Amino acid sequence: METTPDLKHADFIADPHALYRRLRTDEPVHWNPSLRGWMVTRHEDVAKALIDPRLSVAKLKPFLDQAGPETYRKVEGVSAVLADWMVFNDPPRHGRLRKALAKYFLPHEVAQLRPIILQRVEELIDGFRGRDRVDFIESFAFPLPARVISDLFGVPKEHIADLGRWSENLKDFVALARASPDKYDRARAAAGEMVAFFRETLDDHRRNPRDDLTGRLLEAGAGPEGLSEDEMVSTLILLLFAGHETTASLLTNGLYWLLRSPASIEALQRDRSLIPGAVEEMLRYEGPAQTVTRIAAEDLRLGVADIRRGQRVFLALNSAARDSAVFPDPDLFKVERTDNRHVAFGRGIHFCLGAPLARLEAQIAFDRLLSRLASIRLETLQPLWHDELVTRSMERLVISYEMVT
Ligand code: HEM
Repeated sequence: METTPDLKHADFIADPHALYRRLRTDEPVHWNPSLRGWMVTRHEDVAKALIDPRLSVAKLKPFLDQAGPETYRKVEGVSAVLADWMVFNDPPRHGRLRKALAKYFLPHEVAQLRPIILQRVEELIDGFRGRDRVDFIESFAFPLPARVISDLFGVPKEHIADLGRWSENLKDFVALARASPDKYDRARAAAGEMVAFFRETLDDHRRNPRDDLTGRLLEAGAGPEGLSEDEMVSTLILLLFAGHETTASLLTNGLYWLLRSPASIEALQRDRSLIPGAVEEMLRYEGPAQTVTRIAAEDLRLGVADIRRGQRVFLALNSAARDSAVFPDPDLFKVERTDNRHVAFGRGIHFCLGAPLARLEAQIAFDRLLSRLASIRLETLQPLWHDELVTRSMERLVISYEMVT
């Protein structure tokens, strides 16, 4: 990997940080031929690029323009859903789509969800009883956010498994999982099922109004700047998608690095007030969103490079997170770290809407896991990381433990 970095190389997938480190020093804004895009790796450049209005999030049209007829036919329906996602829209439309929901995701609103999140966390840990080891992803990290989102949406329990399956199938399309040949077919099927499901959810809420997120969205839809029915359906799908896999990876990657750092576990066992900072360190150290993508809306200079209009730019959030210019001892996982200016949730107008929710879920989860389990040990010592560039997640994480309560 010395000259042209191969982002499909097994070494990069297993540990991207060695290459990120080299790029930050040698070629901080790097043109990658196989990616057909730029990779930006320094914190300063990434942080600036995230708030640069010349870098657009309207990525769907260029993708569709390049797609062959076969792919186009398969992704047309999915793209119609994605076209209404705020995360793929620039101003002014972005503002209208975001405003419909922004209030509901403010930290003090999200704080009201604490009892229900705690209940879901306890139920999942109860499921660890009678065993001495579990795949943490299957038994906790994956179901927790799906259950919390179902509670938020007012979706009956029996559909939770569908929500998980749909978001996983959509992820392979959105997150550039290269090694997955049927990803377009699966995304198309998942999008079709999701649209039908959320239309029915909206209808059900119209018939039986209730005060949950779907109800709030319907209320917002009634206003002058309100959302159309299609926009509401797309927004619910976005929230499911954006909030599920990412939170699952925060819990999984976070636990993995925590267990690799006995000093951190001890510190948290001694002092639970360190948990919020520990979650920030988990977000920094191996964040769930490895890169975010932009399209240059005009020619521009970014760091050391001249970027042409229409070119793709990958902002490597997880590389920015290990930049020694901003973080002392960046490769050290340290739950007591202060002044943690990671960009794991992005920055600027697209800053993650669900950040307060993800933080709260993770804080409650780690607090309860550390209280109810003792002698937690990693049984998966070398996780199999997924071949993805947009997200950062692993296949399985088996842990063993003793149940305390
Ligand atoms: C640890 C978990 C999470 C991480 C690391 C994460 C990361 C991100 C990042 C990096 C962005 C910015 C994308 C960009 O600039 O292109 C983003 C946007 C977004 N996230 Fe999250 N996210 C997480 C959890 C959630 C949750 C729980 C929800 C909601 C239930 C959510 C909803 C959204 C939405 C709606 C946007 C788009 C905001 C906009 O375009 O204005 N996310 N997220």
